[in-house]
Amino acid sequence: MIQVNHISKQFGGKSILQDIQFSVAQGERISLVGPGGCGKTLLLKILLGLITPDTGSTSILGVDFQHAPHNDQTAVRKQIGMAFQQGGLFDFMTVGENLMFAMEHMVDKPKKVAQAIIDRLLAAVKLPHVQSMFPYELSGGMQRRVGIARALCTHPKVAFFDEPTAGLDPVTSTIILNMILALGIQEVGEEAPSMLVVTSNVETAIRFADRIIVLHEGKIAADGPWRELLVSGPQWVQHFLQVRFIGLDLAYAKELELPDAFLRKHW
Ligand SMILES: Nc1ncnc2c1ncn2[C@@H]1O[C@H](COP(=O)(O)OP(=O)(O)O)[C@@H](O)[C@H]1O
Ligand SMILES: [Mg+2]
Repeated sequence: MIQVNHISKQFGGKSILQDIQFSVAQGERISLVGPGGCGKTLLLKILLGLITPDTGSTSILGVDFQHAPHNDQTAVRKQIGMAFQQGGLFDFMTVGENLMFAMEHMVDKPKKVAQAIIDRLLAAVKLPHVQSMFPYELSGGMQRRVGIARALCTHPKVAFFDEPTAGLDPVTSTIILNMILALGIQEVGEEAPSMLVVTSNVETAIRFADRIIVLHEGKIAADGPWRELLVSGPQWVQHFLQVRFIGLDLAYAKELELPDAFLRKHW
C-alpha cells in the first residue's frame, strides 16, 4: 500500500532525511516515532507528494508520486485520509461543511448517504452537536477529533495522522487513539485501511501499533515490534523507549503490556 524507497532530503545544505526505506501492507498499522524536529512531518509531506525528495521515490497504492502523471496522483490522493496536527479545517466553513466538502471532492456518493456518514462519524468522535459550529468555536482537542473524522469519512485505503495526541491531556489522548482504532475498522466486506500515526510520544506510538519505526538523526534507527525493540533494539532506541517508562506505576506498566524482561529489570 505504501512504499518508501531510499528517500533523502536536505534543506539549505542540512540533511534532514537520509536513505529512508520501509513499506506498509494492506490493513497494517504503524507508528512512526522520533524526537521533535527529526523530520516526521516532512516525511508525511513527501508521502503525500507535497514535497519532492532529493533522491529516492515513494509510492502509494502502486502509484509513484515522483514520476506518475498528475491525474494518477490526484486519483490516489482521493484514497488517502490525512489528519493534520492542527486539525487542518477551513475556518470559513462549519464543521458539517468541512466534512461535506471532503466527501464531495473525494468520493462519489449521493448527498444523503454522505450526510449519514458524517452524522455517524461525528457521533463516533463524540461530537454530534457541532455540525453547524465553526472551527474557532471548538477547543484544540475538538478540532483534532473533527480532523480525524474528516480523514476517515471518505473510507480511505491509506490514512495518516500527524501528532494526533500532541498537547492533549492523557484522558483525551486515550479517547482519540481509541477512536482512530475504532474508526479504522471497516464494515463487513470492506478492506481495513493501512494507517500510519506520526508522533513524538512513545506511549501514543506503542498504544497505536505493534510495529514502530524509530527515526533518529534523519535515519531509521529501528523498525519492528516495539516489545522487541524495548529490550533488544539498538542501544539508542532502547534508551529512547525505556526512559519513557522507567518510574511508571507497576499496574500501569502491566496495562501497557510492557515486556516481562523490561519489568523484571526495572521493578
Ligand atoms: N519546507 C521546509 N523548508 C526548510 N526546512 C524545513 C522544511 N520542512 C521541514 N524543514 C526542517 O526539517 C526539520 C524537520 O522538520 P519536521 O518534519 O517538521 O519535524 P518533526 O515533524 O519530526 O517535528 C526541521 O529542522 C525543519 O526546520
Ligand atoms: Mg511534526
